[in-house]
Amino acid sequence: MSRLNVNIDHIATIRQARRTNEPNPVSAAVICELAGADGITTHLRGDRRHIQDYDLLALKQAVITHLNVEMAPTDEMIEIALRVKPDVVTLVPERPQEVTTEGGLDVTGNRKAIAEAIRRLTEHGIFVSLFIDPDLGQIKAASRMRAYQIEICTALYARLCENPGDQTVRRTKEIEKELERLRQASKYAARAGLKVAVGHGLTYRNIDPVARIPEVEEFNIGHNIIARAALVGMDRAVREMIDAIRRARSGLSSQT
Ligand code: PXP
Repeated sequence: MSRLNVNIDHIATIRQARRTNEPNPVSAAVICELAGADGITTHLRGDRRHIQDYDLLALKQAVITHLNVEMAPTDEMIEIALRVKPDVVTLVPERPQEVTTEGGLDVTGNRKAIAEAIRRLTEHGIFVSLFIDPDLGQIKAASRMRAYQIEICTALYARLCENPGDQTVRRTKEIEKELERLRQASKYAARAGLKVAVGHGLTYRNIDPVARIPEVEEFNIGHNIIARAALVGMDRAVREMIDAIRRARSGLSSQT
């Protein structure tokens, strides 16, 4: 079984560019669900650069499939999660200056804080997923903490795929090596009783070998889907505006 959760953060990024009320992430979530998405993923960042606290409450009301909220394991965020009660919280590392999440959590280096966050969330019926690199030591630590799921970070694989450069042969080897790490990590996690998700930088171009990893049950994909939606919807959006202007202009000529 495999599930696609669509990350709708960048719908909010567009809205926040104008601090207006469109496009609404809830409308996007509903369309994703109608198109067959199995869940909605969203990241409440400390700097609130895209999703706002009120979006989470609205998404909790509107999403009928599965709501996965990514957040840093800070007291502020855990309090918010306990109020909103999404189906799953994915704990991620966060650096204020980063453009996007840069890699997985250091579970082994932050055992106490992460274990405490897992305990508090689980006590309130929220499943916890840990976003980690394909590193067996990190996975072992995640399973010892009784996380429900890990989401294996595919950022390095994605970076290698998107920058093949001139030395295609060398890159191909690097890509295959990283894919093998993803395969081994998935196998190891599933054997340890963890559910396995993947995410970060996955695209229509690079998804195929990752989607062939049998242990992976969930895909969290955002940027590439939103980017494509903006372009495949552009033709219709422009035509609709031309029609609106033409209708108005034809009314003008019939008045004169
Ligand atoms: N999974 C996690 C933990 C993330 O932080 C992100 C980005 O917010 C994604 C998945 C989605 O990544 P992308 O937007 O590159 O598909």
